[in-house]
Amino acid sequence: MRLQHLTLALIGLVFAIGLLGASGPVFASPAAAKPVVASTTPAPLPPGPKAPPSGGAMAQTCAGCHGTEGRLKAAAFMPLAGMPRAQFVQAMRDFRSGKRPSTLMGHVAQGFSDGEIDAMAGYFANVKPE
Ligand code: HEC
Repeated sequence: MRLQHLTLALIGLVFAIGLLGASGPVFASPAAAKPVVASTTPAPLPPGPKAPPSGGAMAQTCAGCHGTEGRLKAAAFMPLAGMPRAQFVQAMRDFRSGKRPSTLMGHVAQGFSDGEIDAMAGYFANVKPE
């Protein structure tokens, strides 16, 4: 009789441990998934001040409206390719300050420092307009 009770108790114990083991990972899985999400999030962050983005890299953000490399055959938006440096810098600074009225470019230009505008000016001035 005692052995039977002991056996039943052991079976019960094993069963209970099995349940714990099964429920453990179920509750743990959302928490375990989080570090995976967190570790992929920092990857697309822009480089720090020691590695400023190049004019060409920043110019990619202009492509949606001004065309790839600033070349746009449909004239809805002004093409930027081949724009003289000084003209580009002046346009961007005037958009940023509000001196030059704009629908969109005032908002766009506010995202860039003088150094970044200069870097993009160098990039676009060197792209040959088609
Ligand atoms: C959301 C669309 C959009 C984006 C993105 C955009 N632009 Fe513009 N851009 C315009 C529009 C529209 C104009 C005409 C002025 C206005 O109404 O804002 C313009 C005008 C300009 C001009 C004046 C061109 C000329 O012939 O005088 C420059 C320079 C310029 N954009 C540079 C840029 C640069 C550099 C970027 C990327 C950092 C950029 N734009 C991104 C829409 C855009």
